[in-house]
Amino acid sequence: MKKSEIKALVAEMTLEEKVSLLTGANAWSTVAIPRLGIPSINLSDGPHGLRRCDGLGWNESVPATCFPPAVLLACSFDEELAKKQGAAIGEEAQEQDVQIVLGPANNIKRSPLGGRCFEYCSEDPVLSGHIAAGVIEGIQSKKVGTALKHFACNSQETERFVVNELIGERALREIYLASFEYPVKKAKPTSVMCAYNKVNGEYCSQNRWLLTDVLRDEWGFKGFVMSDWGAVDNRAQGVYAGLELEMPGTGGENKRELVNAVNGERVSMPSTDPKFKNKLTVYQINKAVMRLLEVVFSLHEKRNKKSCDYSKHHKTAVDIAKESMVLLKNNGALPIKGGKTAVIGEMAVNPRYQGGGSSYVNAINVTKPLDAMAQYGEVEYSQGYSLDNDKDYDKISDAVKLAGSCDRAVIICGLPLSYESEGYDRSHMNLPDSQLRLIDEVVRRQPNTVVVLCNGSPVAMPFVGKVNGILEAYLGGEGAGEAIADLLYGKANPCGKLAESFPQYLEHNPSYGNFPGENSKVNYSEGIYVGYRWYEKHNIPVLFPFGFGLSYTSFRYDSIELSKSEIDENEEITVTVTVSNTGAMDGKEAVQLYVREENPRVSRPEKELKAFKKVFVKAGESVQAVFTLDRRCFAYWDDEIHDWRVDSGKFVILAGDSSDNCPLTESVNVSARDYFKELSIHTTYSELKTHPKGDKFVKEVLSAAGEEFKKQLDNMPEDWPLRTMVSMCEAKLTLPVLVDIIEKVNSED
Ligand code: BGC
Repeated sequence: MKKSEIKALVAEMTLEEKVSLLTGANAWSTVAIPRLGIPSINLSDGPHGLRRCDGLGWNESVPATCFPPAVLLACSFDEELAKKQGAAIGEEAQEQDVQIVLGPANNIKRSPLGGRCFEYCSEDPVLSGHIAAGVIEGIQSKKVGTALKHFACNSQETERFVVNELIGERALREIYLASFEYPVKKAKPTSVMCAYNKVNGEYCSQNRWLLTDVLRDEWGFKGFVMSDWGAVDNRAQGVYAGLELEMPGTGGENKRELVNAVNGERVSMPSTDPKFKNKLTVYQINKAVMRLLEVVFSLHEKRNKKSCDYSKHHKTAVDIAKESMVLLKNNGALPIKGGKTAVIGEMAVNPRYQGGGSSYVNAINVTKPLDAMAQYGEVEYSQGYSLDNDKDYDKISDAVKLAGSCDRAVIICGLPLSYESEGYDRSHMNLPDSQLRLIDEVVRRQPNTVVVLCNGSPVAMPFVGKVNGILEAYLGGEGAGEAIADLLYGKANPCGKLAESFPQYLEHNPSYGNFPGENSKVNYSEGIYVGYRWYEKHNIPVLFPFGFGLSYTSFRYDSIELSKSEIDENEEITVTVTVSNTGAMDGKEAVQLYVREENPRVSRPEKELKAFKKVFVKAGESVQAVFTLDRRCFAYWDDEIHDWRVDSGKFVILAGDSSDNCPLTESVNVSARDYFKELSIHTTYSELKTHPKGDKFVKEVLSAAGEEFKKQLDNMPEDWPLRTMVSMCEAKLTLPVLVDIIEKVNSED
């Protein structure tokens, strides 16, 4: 339907009809107005598979493919693969008559303890943004909408409905918002879901700066904003701020609030925005209805209830998992070649492949690692631990006996489902005690032991030095079992890379001490130094660095070439990295490109990921990965000018296979415009000397105070502010005269 036609429809509606559209019909659909031919559309979680539970209650849902959750998908370092996953989800959404999938979820992983870390991509906004963009483009390629969530800063579950996230402007822009900015601009999601929490004192659901100034005015978002389920506080203020749809429906309460706000009657909730007086105009309501209906009509028209091939999707889920799991350690134990393997751990038969909460998919075809491994070699199973009881040590001795009688042991373990869920955070990074003891005792008996980890967020690994191999399988979706078997037996070559750093100790994490906050407030005192940015800046060794992952082949980073050695800040530069596969097996490598500013004016990370590319390299061959870096790759957010800023100087471009290993570097000189603050009485003498209006100012001052003042001026201490002139020139220059001069000079071109 055309915009003009929707406008005409809105003109026909009563105020009550309009406000009825701005809240859900129930938990999973929008309101229809049959008399005007306005349809309802269906929404369903997300993000790594459909959870269509309309009519089934909260805990049941229509079976669907469970794809790898974002924690694993992001380790693919492959936007195209994310697109493929999105497209498959989009097909299932069409079949299940879902018009908007509630995802992807794209909050930054600030702490490994975050309860929903498994649903989020990364600690790095560039990686996170690209993976989310891929998922959105994939889903939307099937003419199904998305809801990029949770905007913004929902990096913890503790007190998520009320917590106030206190974050500096620069960290917000460079880290937390940047993760959303790229997918909003590149992939254009049909909707954005606002978060429950407050950001710097204001609930996201009524935060005009966030929902309108940044999202719409700066980033050009054209869809509609929906609330997270129950995130609305002051509904009227929400509409003013840019929140179109409240979810789920609130059965009339908030409709009345909106009608009252338009009619100048009492609105129950206090306004928290001085510019909003709890009054709305019909125009504001119309605008919100228009934005919503444009998407509703468009998605409704594109419904296409074609049945999809779930077995093909299962295979897609397996392929994505294989391309994403991360080989962390290999002392020659892998790939498995011949002999008998003791497969130990309940997760081998009762796999852990997704997290708890609203993203929980009723998976169609969950494969067990044990069954999949049995396809490739001789295996024998022992339970080893109990998923229901962390302190059950009774199963260890059988497992140890079995391990001793085999050629190797593979322990499949990790965090039980109850450890990781929406709604609460973890309080430590440890595996259950029974699992740790099991690993210890098995290794003592069978030195050739490999650990396969199934977890949604980093865990401590006291066994790291004792075992022969570690495969970080994360939460791999319904095909995790097959992916694990293929990787262990070398049917596939591992090529996943960590999308987050694994700290040696929780205490090393930058948020430690400020997570999950106190008195309903969290101080993000680490600022921009999240994840590897922190560990590198503070020289803190990590267990495994961001971007790290081994392969069964080896890659050599041969050369890096820049298209130019000098650029203007608005020019792009092309970077070509040549990589050779020097091993015996074909493989994929995620080539990572980082940028460091040599002598920054402000504190900047040692390096920051700016681009990445996954390339396939045949054994013995070389390929080139080509990247384009633009202004933003050199910029930082300046909280004085409230904008992205590049300073002239030398920037080093680093290419490598992890944040910790960048063997190739090349530098480029960037020339950027100069930034000057307006002169003020607080400008220092040293700033005055380089200020473009410095000479003019001095001339004016001398004409007021007399030429003899020049000598004194030349001897002023560098760090003194201009106001000190008044006392230095024996009353020849009064404060009002000085202020007038400053104003005059500032206003001249
Ligand atoms: C979650 C969202 C989810 C919604 C609907 C909320 O509790 O935070 O991610 O989409 O519920 O299930």
